[in-house]
Amino acid sequence: MSTAAIPADAERAAFKRAAAEAAVELVQDGMVVGLGTGSTAAFAVDALARRHRQGLRFVGIPTSERTATQAREAGIPLTTFAEHRQLDLTIDGADEVERGTLNLIKGLGGALLREKIVAAASRRLAIVVDGAKLVDRLGTHAPVPVEVVTFGLESTRAALEALGASVQLRHSSAREPFVTDGGNRILDCSFGPILDPARLEERIGRIVGVVESGLFIGRADPVFVADATGVHRLGVSTAGGQGVIRA
Ligand code: A5P
Repeated sequence: MSTAAIPADAERAAFKRAAAEAAVELVQDGMVVGLGTGSTAAFAVDALARRHRQGLRFVGIPTSERTATQAREAGIPLTTFAEHRQLDLTIDGADEVERGTLNLIKGLGGALLREKIVAAASRRLAIVVDGAKLVDRLGTHAPVPVEVVTFGLESTRAALEALGASVQLRHSSAREPFVTDGGNRILDCSFGPILDPARLEERIGRIVGVVESGLFIGRADPVFVADATGVHRLGVSTAGGQGVIRA
């Protein structure tokens, strides 16, 4: 893929689309599919809609109201946990992917709670990212988003600070705090590079007032990463690349 004349945003969008389209090839007839949230997952929803029009039969469970709207408008049949307790496959984006472990930070798009519920109920979680999301240590670029209930937020915030985080209440505008689909708030917690993300997830989860954190430990497999050299499929067992599957 040429990098010369393409603006960075367009090139990055092309990588996201390529990763998403590779992951959509995992979807088979009759599956219940989790539909992720974010700009990369949106490409997967587009590709799924195309495959649905071509005759692939599947139903989707969206991880946000935003994705539900996109999927409905694209004609993807949706279902709920009332009909299906388990999903076959979820395709979602991520904010950081740790090389080797494939542990994730998710939730910069604000949908981490539904994303984690859907991921936990899925046999497989396929993650789609462009190469800029790969890091040696989680926390290198992204904060850990933590969804918290509004009541007692200041106290919950203090408990997160006591774990070593620099904490910011997320806003949707200068005056308005961001409100999640569940009616909660998000505290973006910067820890710097995280040495033991599994332990941190546990410690955050024990704080009263925390609903869920954006640390996704041991859930992703495979991860599709697209960059200028093509789309690479990473699996936990290979702890690295398996070569270019699409250039
Ligand atoms: C949504 O809450 C997040 O977990 C997204 O998956 C994440 O922010 C990735 O979004 P982009 O694909 O837009 O970078």
